[in-house]
Amino acid sequence: MKWHIVRLTEVRSTNEYAKEIAEDVPEGTIVLARRQTSGKGRKGRYWASPEGGLWMSVILKPKTPIENVPKLVFVGALAVVDALAKYGIPAEIKWPNDVLVEGRKIAGILSECRLDRFAVLGIGLNVNNEIPEELEDSAVSMKGLLGFEVDLDEVLQRILRALSYWYSLFKSGRHREILDAVRRRSAVLGRHVRVIEDGEVLLEGTALDIDDDGALVVETGEGTKRVLYGDVSIRFS
Ligand code: ATP
Ligand code: BTN
Repeated sequence: MKWHIVRLTEVRSTNEYAKEIAEDVPEGTIVLARRQTSGKGRKGRYWASPEGGLWMSVILKPKTPIENVPKLVFVGALAVVDALAKYGIPAEIKWPNDVLVEGRKIAGILSECRLDRFAVLGIGLNVNNEIPEELEDSAVSMKGLLGFEVDLDEVLQRILRALSYWYSLFKSGRHREILDAVRRRSAVLGRHVRVIEDGEVLLEGTALDIDDDGALVVETGEGTKRVLYGDVSIRFS
């Protein structure tokens, strides 16, 4: 995959910027910003993006049936996990879109798409940035774990190398291999989870599997339920 990087000093959100330019640029264009003033997570939730972190959005134009597009989030998460492994940091994927180290969030993925036209894969990774005080218990950075600053460009290159690999599997329809890798690196399988939607517990039980559609399979005590990737959040209990 040939990447083309657009470097910005400051932007509201690299995902927003990427969506604005996506139709006019080739696949593989990446919007990278030193800081975001309005970085966002799912459902418009706040994403702290001070200088020192890696805030990027990758524009992709996969020719694939629309039902596969939600699985792009796993391509992003796997690329981050692989890049972290190169630094000796063992990370896990908290289905569907978070990357955790020892239970704390180091990265989040936000994929957005315009049906049939493009997808924007937003990746936010805490590298050398400060973690806001209110997130100190739940979030962590590479610098916090390693005890030293990491070269941001090197991290970027490592993510892009892994992204090229996982995205090539995605494009050739090898979704099973992607999902197998997600299962192996999953922070949720075998655990008791509560699935939250709009602040309400939708269901709870033991996370059994991530199926071939990317849905989380939960044994609830009243039968097995499938939770599709959407705006749900997982809480461990
Ligand atoms: P979680 O289960 O981690 O709360 P979620 O699924 O409920 O995630 P997301 O939309 O995935 O919510 O992520 C947004 C949340 O991530 C924010 O509400 C905030 O708690 C947390 N957050 C914000 N900025 C950062 C950051 N830089 N690093 C780690 N976590 C962050
Ligand atoms: C989440 O955990 O909900 C996803 C967080 C995604 C953050 C990244 S940072 C780069 C890109 N731009 C954004 O505004 N969000 C994503």
